[in-house]
Amino acid sequence: MVNVLVVGSGGREHALGWKLAQSPKVDKVYFAPGNGGTQNNVNISSDDIESLAEFAKENDCVTVVGPEVPLSNGIVDEFVKKGLRVFGPTRDAAQLESSKIWAKNFMKRNGILTARFEVFDDSTKAIEYAKSVDYPLVVKADGLAAGKGVIVCDNSSEAVDAINKMLVQKNFGAAGLRIILEERIDGVEASFIALSDGNTAYSMATSQDHKRIYDDDKGPNTGGMGTYSPTPVIDDSTANEIQKNVIEKTIASMKKEGIVFKGFLYAGIMLKDGKPYVLEFNARMGDPECQPIMMRMDSDLFEYIQACIDGTLSSLPRMSWKKHSAVCVILASKGYPESYPRDEQILGLDDVTPNSQVFHSGTRKEDGKILTSGGRVLGVTAVGETLEAAIANAYLRVGKINWPSKYYRTDIGKKGLAWRK
Ligand code: AMP
Ligand code: GLY
Repeated sequence: MVNVLVVGSGGREHALGWKLAQSPKVDKVYFAPGNGGTQNNVNISSDDIESLAEFAKENDCVTVVGPEVPLSNGIVDEFVKKGLRVFGPTRDAAQLESSKIWAKNFMKRNGILTARFEVFDDSTKAIEYAKSVDYPLVVKADGLAAGKGVIVCDNSSEAVDAINKMLVQKNFGAAGLRIILEERIDGVEASFIALSDGNTAYSMATSQDHKRIYDDDKGPNTGGMGTYSPTPVIDDSTANEIQKNVIEKTIASMKKEGIVFKGFLYAGIMLKDGKPYVLEFNARMGDPECQPIMMRMDSDLFEYIQACIDGTLSSLPRMSWKKHSAVCVILASKGYPESYPRDEQILGLDDVTPNSQVFHSGTRKEDGKILTSGGRVLGVTAVGETLEAAIANAYLRVGKINWPSKYYRTDIGKKGLAWRK
């Protein structure tokens, strides 16, 4: 029996730890720093690589890294150097997420389908280009920007504004000093996540995120306001195509370029005319994709993580998934993704309904009370025999939980229902 250290403090980490704690091979799951809903919290920031390594060594932990920032700072490289067992990509492998330009060029040279694009660091040239193309553009900051560095534009004047924000006003700091102007692809978006040991990649269950803050996909992008799994948007033949032409091709091309990608590989997919375009890669699990996916996972996640670390994934069968649907509704604080109040007490968490699970993200515990501490606060997740039933179960639990600034979308999963009709 070994212990697990989950690095991070979001709903994704809570869900990963929840699942890993169910493994007969795992003794204790620690979270660093964790949140108000996780147990065995260790007061070390997810950026303090040295202290995390020390803790993992002293407590005989296999470490699972949730967020992109420590990954792109090389937490895995450091742990490996110290002989510690860790699941996640190295700094070089995490470039798939930490540099959008690197990722776009990687896709281009390896024939992975993605939107046409150009790279700029000069605003005059970028603006000239934006005015010269006759299709709508998406303007992207190269570096990590907590999901905010992408501006989807309707016309060239919006694109010019976005270019100015990044290259002239430098609103995105160093992350926005080089930008991508890429063709907007109008289609249906879904998330496709796999885990890999660097040679073999097994897909997780499919899911669909709801990125905009308001119902009917209105308003600004967020980190994700809700998800469901599986999604009918990715049928079996599309899943096979993505598995082969995106996931396996990426892992093999990385290897060919001398980079071993171990960890979760997340492809943000836009399906247009039946073809899967890669909008972006993340070198980690999605949040809130992770929550419903973990509630559907039948296999022992820990066994798969161990096999990825050892490079023996192909010796295991493909992961198995419960047939039921799962839905995660994010409860946020009003004002997110801009500014929002904090430190409000959350009530009703003990009012448990069947088939549901509450994963915490922006919460903290103080004097036995649970207080809000972030924009996305809880991921209320439920399963049901059908998507309809899972939606009903999730919203039943949502109704039991309250705090003054509670905000949520009321239409999570509806896109999946509409797709079938
Ligand atoms: P990214 O962080 O690159 O996934 O971008 C964030 C969001 O912007 C995506 O989830 C999409 O909703 C949208 N987006 C990004 N690239 C494109 C594109 N080429 N066409 C249309 N929408 C896009
Ligand atoms: N939910 C989208 C992401 O994790 O990036």
